[in-house]
Amino acid sequence: MSLNHRLSVAPMLDWTDRHCRYFHRLISPNIVLYTEMLTTGALLNSERTDLLAYDQSEHPLVIQLGGSNPEELAVCAKMAEDAGFDEININIGCPSDRVQSGRFGACLMREPELVAECVKKMQQAVSIPITLKTRIGVDDEADYDFFKRFVTINRDAGCETFIVHARKALLKGLSPKQNRTIPPLLYHFPEQLKADFPDLTVVVNGGIDTVQKAQNHLQYADGVMIGRAFWNAPWLIRDMHNALGFQPQQTNHDDILYAYQDYCARMLTQGANLHWLIRPILGLFHGFPGSKKWKSYLVTEAPKRKNDIRVLSEARTLINYVSENRS
Ligand SMILES: Cc1cc2nc3c(=O)[nH]c(=O)nc-3n(C[C@H](O)[C@H](O)[C@H](O)COP(=O)(O)O)c2cc1C
Repeated sequence: MSLNHRLSVAPMLDWTDRHCRYFHRLISPNIVLYTEMLTTGALLNSERTDLLAYDQSEHPLVIQLGGSNPEELAVCAKMAEDAGFDEININIGCPSDRVQSGRFGACLMREPELVAECVKKMQQAVSIPITLKTRIGVDDEADYDFFKRFVTINRDAGCETFIVHARKALLKGLSPKQNRTIPPLLYHFPEQLKADFPDLTVVVNGGIDTVQKAQNHLQYADGVMIGRAFWNAPWLIRDMHNALGFQPQQTNHDDILYAYQDYCARMLTQGANLHWLIRPILGLFHGFPGSKKWKSYLVTEAPKRKNDIRVLSEARTLINYVSENRS
């Protein structure tokens, strides 16, 4: 069964690791979470046994795969299904050189038939849905017909959900970071797509950083996916959760912080590093007096006191905010 894609956190390499996802799940029980992109090469060849590890609370959880070999993707899809992921997304949006040389990511927008073969092979291997996260085009191939052809071929292959980062990717000359800011956002592409294919689930991504913008996109789209804005100010997840029709949540910043602190204490006993664990919460008090001091205390102290969970409550004293009494 397909997930409710109304609100999701974008897959972000080095950011949306399992700790980050655990933290986001504390803020919203419903938002769809994505793993960072995992390449088929890493999954099939790595010695690491923790690549598919996650906490059960992270559901609904989508794994994002990077690759273009249909057989390999099918094997990885089966591994993901066996590991309990709810859905599998293929990355057709990443523009980095490394990804292009591996012939996956955004350059695959030029090879819709190959992507469709991947989708079909994966669907034969598993019963969970296969979805695509795309750009609207690449380089000079960025008119609506190019985009629509890509979607049509993959829809015919059985893909029912398209997450559209609404800017094209420039494959030469721009870094991945520049490729997330320089090409303009053209939201009329996903809007037209939804009008042309009302039966598809169309999720809009790119530049959505306020509740109002999310609500505007939900006038035509089935969902919004948000990346950097949630990383910078994770409480926006709660604001959107409460505004976009989910069961309103009552827990406050401190409830979330203390629950995450318990999680960190548990993770430290399993060998995790405090320095890494604090990254997702740096923006938790975004907008409150003391937020900068909180951040700088955490980033200075955590690397020095790798196992000392008290760093979090010490940092908390620097925030000038008293939780509301909700009883
Ligand atoms: C640090 C970082 C890492 C990213 N890694 C991935 C990734 O692994 N897979 C992917 O499809 N997109 C990745 N993206 C792109 C985001 O998923 C998203 O499409 C993009 O940031 C636009 O959404 P936003 O404006 O809401 O941030 C990454 C973005 C950032 C900032």
